[in-house]
Amino acid sequence: MGNSSLSLDHTSGSGFESKRVFLFGKIEMELKLVPGNSAGTVTAYFLSSKGPLHDEIDFEFLGNLSGDPYTLHTNIFAHGKGDKEQQFKLWFDPTEDFHKYSILWNQNNIIFYVDDTPIRNFKNNEAIGLPFPNSQAMKIYSSLWDADDWATRGGLVKTDWTKAPFTASYRNFNADICCLCSGSNGGWINQALNSTEQEKMRMVQENFMIYNYCTDFQRFPQGLPQECSIA
Ligand SMILES: *[C@@H]1O[C@H](CO)[C@@H](O)[C@H](O)[C@H]1NC(C)=O
Repeated sequence: MGNSSLSLDHTSGSGFESKRVFLFGKIEMELKLVPGNSAGTVTAYFLSSKGPLHDEIDFEFLGNLSGDPYTLHTNIFAHGKGDKEQQFKLWFDPTEDFHKYSILWNQNNIIFYVDDTPIRNFKNNEAIGLPFPNSQAMKIYSSLWDADDWATRGGLVKTDWTKAPFTASYRNFNADICCLCSGSNGGWINQALNSTEQEKMRMVQENFMIYNYCTDFQRFPQGLPQECSIA
């Protein structure tokens, strides 16, 4: 597949969804984000099931004013419950070149990668009664939309429609998904981070994480979500 693009103007955004649904997979996509003044735009790329108690795994890129950095937003919904946001700055300008953003989703782990560097690992903690997305098949979605009411400084900065249409490009979309997961799929079905990768992820989180629901005591006065106290 060659380059394709998503675009946004005042009347409509754009997006695509996969035809197939799948339970577990390794999804890779190279994206080049809206350049210049992209404040108010959100480029999203996510997996989601349907229905009220849905599961979802999100990558979202919140645009910014020219010269100000994008925010990479991640979230996970398990059986309808989200509120697991972690946000990062990137260590490169994501509008300059294509970079690869991947999601690995198997029985035990959800791992988010940026150019093969793991940035987040959400683990299956069903053993202590916490929900994990492993029973509902998902589709892949990608979209570019206008969210200037919340995306940029809580709505303080508005989208500059004189710069429209906004365009983000993607290429080399690759989905290695489970139809009959029998172990012959490049090993990802049993993949977990090894100690070198865990160390890399720790470094990224230390240097580039700008929000972590697991340290937001104000938001969870009753106590942080249970998974936060498990390494
Ligand atoms: C835009 O950049 C400013 C300045 O660095 C930062 O405080 C803000 O969080 C950024 N907004 C988004 C949506 O990333």
